[in-house]
Amino acid sequence: MCGIVGYIGHREAFPIIIEGLKRLEYRGYDSAGIALYDGKDLKVCKAKGKVADLEARVDSEITKNGTIGIGHTRWATHGVPNDVNAHPHSSNSGDLVIIHNGIIENYVSLKKELSKRGYIFKSDTDTEVLINLIEDIKLKENLKLGKAVQVALNQVVGAYAIAVFDKKKPDEIVIAKLGSPLAVGVGDNEFFIASDASPFIEYTKNAIYLEDEEMAIVRINKPIKIRKIKDDSLVDPYIQELQMNLEQIEKGGYDHFMLKEIYEQPDAIRDTYRGRLLVKEGIIRMAGIDDNIEKFINADRIIIVACGTSWHAGLVAEYIFEDIARIPVEVEYASEFRYRNPVITKKDVVIAISQSGETADTLAAIKLAKANGAFVFGVCNVVGSTIARETHAGAYTHAGPEIGVASTKAFTTQITLLTLIALKLAKVKGEISNSDYRYHLQELELIPEKVAKALKSEDHIKMIAEKYKNAKNFLYLGRGYNFPVALEGALKLKEISYIHAEGYPAAEMKHGPIALIDENMPVVVIATKKGHYEKVVSNIEEIKARQGKIIGIVTEGDENVKSLADYVIEVPESLESLSPLLTTIPLQLLSYHIAVMLNRNVDQPRNLAKSVTVE
Ligand code: F6R
Repeated sequence: MCGIVGYIGHREAFPIIIEGLKRLEYRGYDSAGIALYDGKDLKVCKAKGKVADLEARVDSEITKNGTIGIGHTRWATHGVPNDVNAHPHSSNSGDLVIIHNGIIENYVSLKKELSKRGYIFKSDTDTEVLINLIEDIKLKENLKLGKAVQVALNQVVGAYAIAVFDKKKPDEIVIAKLGSPLAVGVGDNEFFIASDASPFIEYTKNAIYLEDEEMAIVRINKPIKIRKIKDDSLVDPYIQELQMNLEQIEKGGYDHFMLKEIYEQPDAIRDTYRGRLLVKEGIIRMAGIDDNIEKFINADRIIIVACGTSWHAGLVAEYIFEDIARIPVEVEYASEFRYRNPVITKKDVVIAISQSGETADTLAAIKLAKANGAFVFGVCNVVGSTIARETHAGAYTHAGPEIGVASTKAFTTQITLLTLIALKLAKVKGEISNSDYRYHLQELELIPEKVAKALKSEDHIKMIAEKYKNAKNFLYLGRGYNFPVALEGALKLKEISYIHAEGYPAAEMKHGPIALIDENMPVVVIATKKGHYEKVVSNIEEIKARQGKIIGIVTEGDENVKSLADYVIEVPESLESLSPLLTTIPLQLLSYHIAVMLNRNVDQPRNLAKSVTVE
């Protein structure tokens, strides 16, 4: 899981690559490197740490000239993060350099063979094995670089997006993809290569997304040639016009991407239902569902597979699908599902939820479901991502790029989309009355302005964050639709503040976690008016009796919980099924402010990366 950038053309490559790597740091940020060709020589510079550390080192170590180059920002898989393991990796002769996002699974056996043939390895990486394999094949069989890459990749097991450069043939870069994303920006006699389009968006809006098992050679002043790695057949390049602009991927005046993305939620939710939720007409229109309605209606059950925050969105969906559409639902961690020999039949519909569309476990779960004949529907944010392409049909959340590692707007837009699907199915199946259906549509349309209202509590939440920022543990409780929100609140706090937190169904507290409660334990309790309110209030009383500190997430105007809790944060009233879209907001802001007060790296928390493309 890394970010790669390359450039070949008439501009200075260095600023394009460095700026591009900064935009891709969400993919990994433990070390970075660059290789530049200045017309005569190839210079490589690498540094442990962030792209800014690399930038500083380049200044003192190499000249920045050259109109061809490749760069990499790393999230370690093989070998600790250090200068040597950072990419680009050079071949033994020093002629070839490579950048790689992915994993070469059979690198140990390949390395053994190459060692026998005299190759020496400086790093612990699988990537250095690949570049030497390419060199070995090239020299042994006297092949051009493109052909040598192709032969090598046919011997490799694993996943990759690579860019390879040969200083003896300095007018081309060879690229290839299997399982990791790779976009090519097509400019005027120039090409940009990147893990996503953000590094080249200000230079060109024309992009080609390589498909799995495709490779290409990009050359100065020549059209791109794409081939299938396996059978060498030529593929017509499909150039698409990008809709994304640079402003969308910058911080837009906020201190952190996470805060920007929290504040983008009213618009993001609107974008999710735009053109789909037609309140006046009383229609929900979604091509991916409309075209496959029989599959959903006749399904024995829906199985939802996802990881992390997306799994929490799946749990919310379970409540709404069963409650409103009366379809049985199972929600599975993709990582468990893929290995536990699950019973899957042709009458199952599998919904895979993934912001990035690249999560390895979710992808494997999809492949398993497809192999067993299930219909697989994808709910992704990243357009053209692997999961979006691997599923039979799907719908995008249209939340826009999510750069902060901690998922925020992805969660609320996933819930919005899944709610639309549940309502549509409920209507088609005749499980919901006309008036109830209409009421749901109206209420859903109002959610963005209610989210905007919930965001107004930020200063109050900041004050609460100040109060509890030094707590060692937090407990989050919720019931019904808001149980998954409790899980999500706890995950948000853990991942960005490093404070231990647990989410629980409120009624389960008495079966164990109540033993943790004392005067040092802040307990965040979601107690909105419509969902099991009295029962949750009883739980609050139990916490109070044990001197726990209570932060209540309540419906506007609730005086009852206010009189019991240490603090309350109000959210606007809504339907219970839509309340997760509102109760999530204060939990995101609470974690954010605690993390900022503790000086954490909010957008890039330690040990994490934005898309988990390895098991
Ligand atoms: C938490 C978070 C992760 C992701 C998980 C799945 O804030 O971001 O838990 O939700 O890695 O990622 P996607 O949705 O890209 O499949």
